[in-house]
Amino acid sequence: MAKAIADYERTRMSGNSPWDRWKKGREDNAVSAEVKKGDELFFGKAGCNQCHLGQNFTDSTFHNLGICWDPKSRQFKDEGRFVVTKIDADRGAFKTPTVRDVSLHAPYMHDGSLATLRDVVEHYNKGGIRNPNLDPKIKPLKLTEDEINALVKSMEVLKGEGYQDTAPSAFPQSVT
Ligand code: HEC
Repeated sequence: MAKAIADYERTRMSGNSPWDRWKKGREDNAVSAEVKKGDELFFGKAGCNQCHLGQNFTDSTFHNLGICWDPKSRQFKDEGRFVVTKIDADRGAFKTPTVRDVSLHAPYMHDGSLATLRDVVEHYNKGGIRNPNLDPKIKPLKLTEDEINALVKSMEVLKGEGYQDTAPSAFPQSVT
């Protein structure tokens, strides 16, 4: 079953977003000036590309951003990667997800604890949630309101053409 689901997931591809048309297709007016500013931040001052990089905007590895850390009990509500590796430093680490099509599936993070893309950027702007395993790449960013808005806009244009699924015309019938 895991193999079947993995094969299916590999067919879920996104592409030809306004961002791709601008960056790869060299259509200069595919995105707004604000998006271009946000993109510059994503790959520059805000350092998002330290983890969200390449075609799929992910380094395919695990990082701790402090999501689901409970400061009272000093524990993670979900221990994430630790469950697999049993390495202490992996407590609270989760795999970097793609940001392609991200505007289509709020809420965000593995536990859905951040409602909007703006909340996500604000989470990074304040330097994540402090905990003993916080990834050293996560630091306060000192972004202005305009910069936060631009970053949000730059992720919204990663909306591709859609999965182009067609609904099945027949469903398995139960045998009675
Ligand atoms: C240290 C690596 C790292 C850096 C730097 C980083 N991210 Fe992330 N990002 C992650 C990980 C890991 C997750 C998943 C965390 C979770 O599920 O708890 C994530 C989740 C997200 C999500 C939610 C995606 C979803 O489907 O729920 C968005 C949006 C996002 N990051 C955008 C950004 C932006 C914008 C920046 C720059 C300001 C940034 N990231 C910087 C590693 C990073």
